[in-house]
Amino acid sequence: MEWLRACRVQDIPAGRGWPVRFGELYLAVFDTPVGFRALENRCLHVGNPIDDGSVSGTVLICPWHGWCYDVETGDRLTTAGRRAGLRTFPVRVDGDWVYVDVH
Ligand code: FES
Repeated sequence: MEWLRACRVQDIPAGRGWPVRFGELYLAVFDTPVGFRALENRCLHVGNPIDDGSVSGTVLICPWHGWCYDVETGDRLTTAGRRAGLRTFPVRVDGDWVYVDVH
């Protein structure tokens, strides 16, 4: 485990994401109805960032062309595409801070 401080809880707009960069690792942390979730910040469609996407229930909708993902598993819900889903990362909250395990 390698927990890194990602952002403050209040940085993340409700139902939206927040971009976080750790070196070459680019993530998006989302405030969702099932808690905070972190995914790689690169849509599988054409690679645009997903941090400005919206979350409806547990479905993350890419802001660019509407591809959908399961925000808990990262699974791609849109039918086209080569990869099965986005990489996900464990998240924990300690006080005002959100931490992501980037193992
Ligand atoms: S870049 Fe996400 S749907 Fe096109």
